[in-house]
Amino acid sequence: MCGIVGFTGARSAAPILLKGLRQLEYRGYDSAGIAVLAGGAIDVEKVSGRIAKLCEKTRDGAAVPGVTGIGHTRWATHGAPTDTNAHPHLSNDGRFAIVHNGIIENYLALREELIADGYVFESETDTETIVHLLEFNYDGDIKAAVMKTAARLEGSYALGILCTDAPDTLYAVRESSPLILGIGVGENYFASDVTALVAHTKNVIYLEDGEMAELTSASIRVYDCTGQEIKKPVSRVTWNVEAAEKGGYEHFMLKEIMEQPGAVKAALVPRLHEGRIRLDDFELSAEELRGINKIIITACGSAYYAGCSGRYAIERLCRIPVQAELASELRYGDPMVDEHTLVLVISQSGETADTIAALKECRSRGAKIIGIVNVVGSTIAKLADHTLYTWAGPEIAVATTKGYTTQLAVLYLLAIYIAERLGRLDEKDYAALIKKLMQLPKLLQETIDMNYLLPTVASRYASQSLFFIGRNTDYAVALEGALKMKEISYLHAESYAAGELKHGTIALIDEGQPVIAVCCNEALADKTLSNIVEVKARGAKVLALAFRGNTRIVSQADDVIFIPRIDTIFSAILAVVPLQLLAYYAAKEKGCDIDKPKNLAKSVTVE
Ligand code: M6R
Repeated sequence: MCGIVGFTGARSAAPILLKGLRQLEYRGYDSAGIAVLAGGAIDVEKVSGRIAKLCEKTRDGAAVPGVTGIGHTRWATHGAPTDTNAHPHLSNDGRFAIVHNGIIENYLALREELIADGYVFESETDTETIVHLLEFNYDGDIKAAVMKTAARLEGSYALGILCTDAPDTLYAVRESSPLILGIGVGENYFASDVTALVAHTKNVIYLEDGEMAELTSASIRVYDCTGQEIKKPVSRVTWNVEAAEKGGYEHFMLKEIMEQPGAVKAALVPRLHEGRIRLDDFELSAEELRGINKIIITACGSAYYAGCSGRYAIERLCRIPVQAELASELRYGDPMVDEHTLVLVISQSGETADTIAALKECRSRGAKIIGIVNVVGSTIAKLADHTLYTWAGPEIAVATTKGYTTQLAVLYLLAIYIAERLGRLDEKDYAALIKKLMQLPKLLQETIDMNYLLPTVASRYASQSLFFIGRNTDYAVALEGALKMKEISYLHAESYAAGELKHGTIALIDEGQPVIAVCCNEALADKTLSNIVEVKARGAKVLALAFRGNTRIVSQADDVIFIPRIDTIFSAILAVVPLQLLAYYAAKEKGCDIDKPKNLAKSVTVE
């Protein structure tokens, strides 16, 4: 939540900062601001609302001269999204300006201390305490002041700092919030995400917790928390700037839906060698796996729903009990986890606060952790014992699509891998599953191609509160389908295990009530068909999702969306696609801000 950027070089900083902020806007879009050093003073420009408003105010940066600056796009936590609460914040003496992504947990105590010392606060933010603390700790040594200040902070922060006494220098500090340094030619940068850097450079340095960086146009120096300079490896970003742009699509979400066949291919192909699965740089031995008596999958939001789907695949193939647990619940739940538990931690961003906390909780109880993560170098990727990247490329739309399907692809891969290692699959079944897995990119493309009529269907169903129903693997898909609908179209959508309808929910079914029934689990399709009949008898309007060729469903449902036939183990990855499209077209018809839904942010780095 919140994105920060920094630039120092010979070019005008403001337009570069604004361009970077536009790339980070998915992280929060309540307010935006920049601070640029010029003529020995710091010019701060900030607005409540979107970056477009800030561009207008600053004439695309032309009105803010200077070659060194910082910028911020906010998802409000402490204080309403007003101009005053927008970052950057200035110290009382005007010497320091800061931008912050994260939360300072002890800010109230610090604020009281600083007020007692005579500091005047303008905003309600936790961030403003940091800038006054910097002024308080400053005795002519900026680096020392930054370190002293950081040592007093509890919580999470990625900070970008300007000081008038070092007019060509940026300072950046990281603790539990992402921060990446970009190495340019005669100019350097920092940002919360590489998407803001790739237009300028592909050479980056990932800062670790407790590290501080000092950037000038000619150099980048990184220090540990004791002030000792450290040598950091330079990583190369593997994707191009186009990957983080809309490429002709009206919305990132639609582009990312369309990218799913390629993204799933990228998640699978590098791990398949001559018909066998090879995990990246680690192996799980049969002996190790035999010592595992339970698998826990933990995550939040859609990543959790991917875990709910993956659970069925792992249990069916590996015959190990699997629990899917919401990370926000698990972290406080005194979980029954020990050294015999394998924990799969799923996260697109790799920065979700609750997921990180759940990971740490499981680690403290002795579990082995495998991260399934998209963002390279993210916190979860670093904390896990092993990480399987999902290789979805940058996902900009707040509602995840390719992030989710690539998580499923990796879970399927892992399920087959573990089953084979445990001797639960013979060679024939193993080869057959790998073959089916390899067909997924092609079948995803077919699924997209088959659903070109969805805009019309969406306008018939997505006009009021909706129910999504399904059983087993289809229920997991219904959960994700309902979430997609809620978050981008703001329509009320509930998902139910179809068998639960009779236990209460059916009381809500009235004339014309839209019900989306997922019927892609062949073993249970007849059961769900009975539920369709029951809700129809009470007036519901039913849109069913089924395998191509399912004629029985055509006679019962009002409308049917088809997907290609596939083994039930893998059906969720195809079935979710029409539901993503349904939500997209419903939101489009309602005129919603599809890529940046209200009240949300892409990466939820606060509890
Ligand atoms: O980055 P993560 O995968 O850890 O994020 C988890 C959820 O916040 C995320 O999936 C959220 O539910 C999305 N907005 C769903 O589209």
